[in-house]
Amino acid sequence: MRPLDRWLLRSTGAMRWHLAASVGLGVVAAAAVIVQAGLLAHVIAATFLGTADVATLRGPLLALLVVVGVRALVTWAQEATATRAAARVKQELRTRLLDHVLDLGPGWLAGRRSGDLAQLATRGVDALDAYFAGYLPQFVLACVVPPLVVVRMGLADVLSAAVIVVTLPLVPVFMALVGWTTRRSMDRRWSDLRRLSHHFLDVLDGLPVLRAYGRGRAQAATVRRVTDDYRRSTLAVLRVSFLSSFVLELTASLSVALVAVEVGLRLLDGRVGLETALLVLILAPEAYLPLRQLGAGYHAAAEGLSAAAQVRDVLDEPAPLRGSTDVPHVAETGLSVENLQVRYPGRSRPALTGGTLRVGPGELVALVGPSGAGKSSLIAAVLGFVTPAAGRIQLGDVDLTDVDAAAWRQQVAWVPQRPRLVSASIADNVRLGVPDASDEEVLGALRAAAAEELDPALWLGEDGSGLSAGQRQRVALARALLRCTRGGGLLLLDEPTEHLDPATEERVLRTLAHRAREPERPLCVLLVGHRDAVARAADRVVRLATPGPLVIELGVPA
Ligand SMILES: Nc1ncnc2c1ncn2[C@@H]1O[C@H](COP(=O)(O)OP(=O)(O)O)[C@@H](O)[C@H]1O
Ligand SMILES: [Mg+2]
Repeated sequence: MRPLDRWLLRSTGAMRWHLAASVGLGVVAAAAVIVQAGLLAHVIAATFLGTADVATLRGPLLALLVVVGVRALVTWAQEATATRAAARVKQELRTRLLDHVLDLGPGWLAGRRSGDLAQLATRGVDALDAYFAGYLPQFVLACVVPPLVVVRMGLADVLSAAVIVVTLPLVPVFMALVGWTTRRSMDRRWSDLRRLSHHFLDVLDGLPVLRAYGRGRAQAATVRRVTDDYRRSTLAVLRVSFLSSFVLELTASLSVALVAVEVGLRLLDGRVGLETALLVLILAPEAYLPLRQLGAGYHAAAEGLSAAAQVRDVLDEPAPLRGSTDVPHVAETGLSVENLQVRYPGRSRPALTGGTLRVGPGELVALVGPSGAGKSSLIAAVLGFVTPAAGRIQLGDVDLTDVDAAAWRQQVAWVPQRPRLVSASIADNVRLGVPDASDEEVLGALRAAAAEELDPALWLGEDGSGLSAGQRQRVALARALLRCTRGGGLLLLDEPTEHLDPATEERVLRTLAHRAREPERPLCVLLVGHRDAVARAADRVVRLATPGPLVIELGVPA
């Protein structure tokens, strides 16, 4: 591990200020240490030798009091600025991480463990506290205090300063050796922790299924095993940590003892004065102290740095849509997909090859094909959730990869294959894309989605529990239809009628066809479905075969 993480230091504006403040405070702290040692040595020597009485020592004693006060203040200020900077940097990193994850989209997320990511965004980023509040100020002190102390000692007694200069570098050398080992065990521990959270989340998520198949106990055993791994790696880190503290303390103590013996012998010989000897003795431990404390804070900081490196890895992932071109209105240009190929990481076979279709303004195009043909993947690419491996998606002559992601999604209304509802009222769920929609608009959207029997005020549980699959689908459809009345130009529907009875399906499809062709506000509608009714309602049917390229059939099918 490098002593300072350059990426982290450059990553946020709050950091620069924090570093400057730390250096300033470090210099004040060093000066205070030196002045305090000088005053102490003077007062003790004068009292011991009887060369001054209390009245003449009043000045130095008062000054000593002031210096002690200054040291306390500096310590407070260091902690205060460090904590504040830590809070700011963490907030900024977390915001950037979450923003970027949103940009990367569900396609990226699907290939990762969400427990992992949750762990990274919460505990991982929090682990940076130790880095900012403990390690970084200590690092600055370790750079500033020892040199100044050595210079002050050198002015008083060259030999003692020489002993310190020789022994002091041993501390960082040992620290580097220890840090080398720590880094590995720290990374190990962190990955064990992530594995643990991932497992736990997974088990909780699938508890009903696990119970039903009688696998609950086996999963508990797995969690126990992973927990045990975590315990082991934590203990490994602690072992290294204790051992390294021991080594550092020993080096520092022996070095101070060396100075004490050497100064003591010369004091007995009368070759140095009492005040000088005292000054050297008081200053010697101060030269080692910041380095020792740096070593102690190192382990806690290493965890934060492990996490920071992973945050950086996520931030370095390129987002599928990262352009900034203005998006033309899709309801005017239409959408064309040409030879699209989608691949998911870790899969040898592409999820979709040769996806070609066009949806013109006011058109309802049905995309059909067997399960696993890549229909949902095509929709994910249009939404900018996955990066196409080949082929293009265009709005008129503008390439989708060049447009601004947020502006593009403003125009898209999407009903996913497995609609996600939030724990709120049905009305709130419908309003998700248009927060300021009136009650009438919400009711209208529910009616259009054939969901008028649902009470908009009904409160839903986690992920919409409390509704049947068909009801969920219609709420999601109402949400998308509402979005289309406000700026939405492209309606993407992934098997929206899968759970509906034939009569309701007919009704929904009629509404969709009608909405697509509405004269003053035409839409582009891409509808994924299996059933005949879907094909009948469409202006055109695009068949996706697997494997092999797409066959396009023009005209209304028989
Ligand atoms: N997130 C993903 N990661 C890896 N493979 C995926 C992912 N999503 C889909 N696939 C694979 O891509 C292929 C096409 O899936 P999909 O687009 O969902 O098909 P369809 O919607 O036509 O049923 C399938 O073989 C599926 O296993
Ligand atoms: Mg699908």
